[in-house]
Amino acid sequence: MLFSKSLFASTVLVALLSVASAGKSANPVKGQTGVIRNAKDFCLFLPPMYGGDIAANEDRAVAFCTKPNMPGAPKVGVFPAGFIKSAHLARDTKKEWIQITGRIDRSKYGLNKKDGGGQYDIKAPVGSKCAGYNHYVELIEPDQQIYCIRCCKNKLDCPVNKSTYGCKKVLGGNYN
Ligand SMILES: *[C@@H]1O[C@H](CO)[C@@H](O)[C@H](O)[C@H]1NC(C)=O
Repeated sequence: MLFSKSLFASTVLVALLSVASAGKSANPVKGQTGVIRNAKDFCLFLPPMYGGDIAANEDRAVAFCTKPNMPGAPKVGVFPAGFIKSAHLARDTKKEWIQITGRIDRSKYGLNKKDGGGQYDIKAPVGSKCAGYNHYVELIEPDQQIYCIRCCKNKLDCPVNKSTYGCKKVLGGNYN
């Protein structure tokens, strides 16, 4: 039974090596879970790279937040300084949704002034989510320098079928 013992040993070795390399490669990857706590503590999904096109990165967007350690949202990035110009909270405690709307300075993340923007939701990027809620919808419009994100318990409160309408028509809210 010497053969099967050494086979076992090398299987264990391969398993250990793959755990070690998985740990290494997973390290720089940012998470795809965001959270909204209040107008000072919240996250948005953004392209993983500076200057990325919003719609072209709908399969790769990652969570960036106002600070690194957000409860329920591990491994998030932090917004570049000055990127968020304003943030206004709205919520409906009866329907159980919460949203943040406001202005960005697109230059702080190299976003293109010709980028009409796009939408992120639980299906794009696949697996992305807003901690504590079943659904979310986010639109970012670099050309208008506005953004909006709403997290919802109920699907109908987070409409994902109007991505070209823009923040003001889809979610309303304050964009000052
Ligand atoms: C989006 O879906 C809602 C709910 O199903 C529907 O009432 C609305 O007409 C749809 N809008 C568009 C633009 O497809």
